[in-house]
Amino acid sequence: MAGKKITVVGAGNVGETTSHLAALEQLGDIVLIDIVEGLAEGKALDLAQAGPISGYDINIIGTTDWEKAAGSDIVIITSGIPRKPGMSRDDLLAKNTSIVKSVTEQIVRYCPDSFIIVVCNPLDAMVYVTSKVSGFDKNKIMGMAGELDCARYKHFIASELNISSKDIDAVLMGGHGDDMVPLPRLTTVEGKPLTELLSKKKIEAIVERTRKGGIEVVNLLGYSAYYAPAAGAVKMAKAILGDNKSKVCCCAYCDKEYSAGGYFVGVPAILGKGGVEKIIELELNGIEQAAFEKSLLHVKDLSAKVDKLL
Ligand code: LAC
Repeated sequence: MAGKKITVVGAGNVGETTSHLAALEQLGDIVLIDIVEGLAEGKALDLAQAGPISGYDINIIGTTDWEKAAGSDIVIITSGIPRKPGMSRDDLLAKNTSIVKSVTEQIVRYCPDSFIIVVCNPLDAMVYVTSKVSGFDKNKIMGMAGELDCARYKHFIASELNISSKDIDAVLMGGHGDDMVPLPRLTTVEGKPLTELLSKKKIEAIVERTRKGGIEVVNLLGYSAYYAPAAGAVKMAKAILGDNKSKVCCCAYCDKEYSAGGYFVGVPAILGKGGVEKIIELELNGIEQAAFEKSLLHVKDLSAKVDKLL
């Protein structure tokens, strides 16, 4: 989009794929930053050289220098250590808190008017770090996980029903962890609830595979997923830059909503030029609200650990 500038922090798998997808969508000029000399520069050069073939015509630069990010409209934080087999997302807490803190300090200095989309793990806690360190308005800070988890959930449903994932309206809430809350009763296929289309057993299997979706990829590859996480981040950036008012499952600040009491947690929300413009409040039944509260408890626990680290 003309005149827009996106900074992607971290030139690992998620960062480079995010930059590539943002370039293909022509979301704006792209600055890819990494602390490793040459890494972001090399990847950005390669991405820029793909432009004449793929048909995108934007500036892409790679750098270690935050001054080049100055004035960005959106900063997407992908930096941080990823999971290896045998690790939970929570095992990354201390190390990634320190990385995300120092990245956020640079954002405050060079991109004080930006929106921030956090992608690194443990996701909900890292969004909290960004909020606490930046002090930015809470609608300007969000995390990408709900779209990823929802995409996995939709993929498994589409495969089971042998339909297009485009026909599925799915919803998933809670933290980005094993206690995330896919909501089959509120997930519909051409208007029909999933609970009328699949047996309880099949739904339970899909929910469980969705919850373990990240580790399934880690166990296959030896490192984390990146195509779907990057696609989720770019969808969110596009919704904000294009003022699309799209419904997106993402980690957003909730206070009275779902009685969350002032935490960043996964919910359906409307994204537009104001960032998180609205939290969509679904009518949860008792079982669903209890599952959300259990997941929220985990987010609260991680946020308390962040408080001790900052
Ligand atoms: C996943 C990681 C990125 O779910 O959290 O794949």
